[in-house]
Amino acid sequence: MNMKIAFVGKGGSGKTTLSSLFIRHLTANEAPVVAVDADINQHLGAALGLDEAQAEALPAMGAHLPLIKDYLRGTNPRITSAETMIKTTPPGEGSRLLRVREDNPVYDACARTVRLDDGEIRLMATGPFTESDLGVSCYHSKVGAVELCLNHLVDGPEEYVVVDM
Ligand SMILES: Nc1ncnc2c1ncn2[C@@H]1O[C@H](COP(=O)(O)OP(=O)(O)O)[C@@H](O)[C@H]1O
Ligand SMILES: [Mg+2]
Repeated sequence: MNMKIAFVGKGGSGKTTLSSLFIRHLTANEAPVVAVDADINQHLGAALGLDEAQAEALPAMGAHLPLIKDYLRGTNPRITSAETMIKTTPPGEGSRLLRVREDNPVYDACARTVRLDDGEIRLMATGPFTESDLGVSCYHSKVGAVELCLNHLVDGPEEYVVVDM
């Protein structure tokens, strides 16, 4: 099997708890995992055992939106600049895709390896949402970065992408 799975729901409904348990279950079964923390309350790192300093040191995807767009658009002739790429712009000819198991500039900038009892995963995080984010452009750059990555992420056989939304 392979899948992208997102845990969604109201605050306090168990998204982060379930995401972390599912991620631990997958690594116990030796499945490669890319995890994304897109929850308004950024706690997936802590739920996976990071201490406060490690969780705070996670790079924020929203801060790397130009890099993400430039890498993903590649040489796609229909996307002539990062500015014209929006969160729903699909990959096409010349676009670059992200694979669960590879190194790429997006992971270099936005992902960190987290060691669990039974293996390790790649964790990416939108970065903390502030009061001023809710409803305005910063919020969209954070969520937009996640949407673009998910739209360009190919999960192969026995590979998993887990999103805490
Ligand atoms: N299945 C469950 N039964 C009881 N308590 C739970 C369950 N899942 C989560 N919790 C608790 O509920 C609270 C909120 O869970 P959390 O995973 O942080 O929710 P969310 O990420 O949706 O805001 C936490 O204190 C967590 O320990
Ligand atoms: Mg949560």
